[in-house]
Amino acid sequence: MKKILEDLREIDAGMVCAALAERRCYASDASQVEGLADYVVRPESTQQVSRILRLCSEENIPVTARGSGTGLSGGASPICGGIVLDLSGMNRIIEIDSENLQVIVEPGVIHEKLNMALKPFGFFFPPDPGSSAMCTIGGMIANNSSGMRSVKYGTTRSYVLDLEVVLADGRVIHTGSKVLKSVAGYDLTRLFVGSEGTLGIITRAGLRVAPLPLARKLVLASFEETETAGRAVIMVFSSGITPSACEILDRTTLKVLKLCDPNLALPDDGDLILFEVDGTDSSTAESALQIQELLGPLAKSVRIASGQKEMEAIWAARRLVGAAISRLDPNRTRIYIGEDVGVPIKEIPSLIKRVQQITTKLDLPAMKYGHIGDGNLHVALFIDVMNSDQWGKLELAADRIHRAALELSGTVSSEHGIGLARAQYMPLQVGEDALNVMRSIKKALDPKNILNPGKMGL
Ligand code: LAC
Ligand code: ZN
Repeated sequence: MKKILEDLREIDAGMVCAALAERRCYASDASQVEGLADYVVRPESTQQVSRILRLCSEENIPVTARGSGTGLSGGASPICGGIVLDLSGMNRIIEIDSENLQVIVEPGVIHEKLNMALKPFGFFFPPDPGSSAMCTIGGMIANNSSGMRSVKYGTTRSYVLDLEVVLADGRVIHTGSKVLKSVAGYDLTRLFVGSEGTLGIITRAGLRVAPLPLARKLVLASFEETETAGRAVIMVFSSGITPSACEILDRTTLKVLKLCDPNLALPDDGDLILFEVDGTDSSTAESALQIQELLGPLAKSVRIASGQKEMEAIWAARRLVGAAISRLDPNRTRIYIGEDVGVPIKEIPSLIKRVQQITTKLDLPAMKYGHIGDGNLHVALFIDVMNSDQWGKLELAADRIHRAALELSGTVSSEHGIGLARAQYMPLQVGEDALNVMRSIKKALDPKNILNPGKMGL
């Protein structure tokens, strides 16, 4: 191993570190999945990444790519040791090409910073994860992450035009071009999006951007029954309106938010759906009114937010909610497990009902929130981590929630990725034959299995 350290330093691989304290800091992402790498390497250029991978390929050293470590599935946890490749230092916005409606970035650019840079040009990069202030574009591409705006704008996948990728043996390829439409061969760009660092290392990305909308409006509708809230979403879609965000905050979530900020004007009971519409002043006013009228007979209460200030306060609170849950009971901790299921929107009421039955039967408190317009529900389970009985119940609940989503033709992960946390469901999720096709692709691109080994059930 000492030789590898010398080799890494010799090939000018960027900053190389082997100290235990440093390696511990890179042992996991925001999930429970942990592993200790032998080295942390922080490259600064594509050439360095290429040299590192060539060496790792020759010496059979596992390589786990990492951005900010905000992932929730263990995708960036180095479970087989080897090298953690910290790409957060490759963080330049290389070009804002507004005439071509695109931007070229390195993988370590922080999502929020990209949008701040695009704002003066009148553009934005629409995928909008809750971790926007921390997560990197490379991590978003590797996980095809999305968030609150995908209901109208689509996920990260919809915006990637071209990737520069370093392959396992050190070769550097481009998967696309600057052209907005191209059908030249297999769609390698889509193959790498969501591949969680198992097929290659993304060192540069060309992204399409969208014009910033001129206006937004927010409708708050609360419902006596959670299932009715699910039906309301389907009604709004069926009426021809596509909201720019459509989020559910169940009654437990509302309680948590009020503990954080008693001044938030949120309903006192029931489950809340936030419908945001964007466009022009007149189109948003018309759509917001239409939603209000449509849901009047179904909802406990429905109103349009007073203005920009209130809207911003509500969205800021929504972003905080995952971490804020401990306000409810300081003796319990949220464990990210079974938290990212998704179903076709027709099945939303059934999913909500199944989740309620599962958590009630196991007597586990749960907070439900998420991107209900995409059929994506974040079920937040929280337990006393010192109580082994509760750990058992937690795992049982998560397993039942995953299986319920699959039975409803859904997915075990809508946006957080498979990593290790959900790898066991891959045969059920995609089927053995499809999984074997994925394994063949992995073998073709990474014959020595050095890239993020042990992940995605491959
Ligand atoms: C959110 C993260 C958990 O939506 O995906 O807050
Ligand atoms: Zn989310």
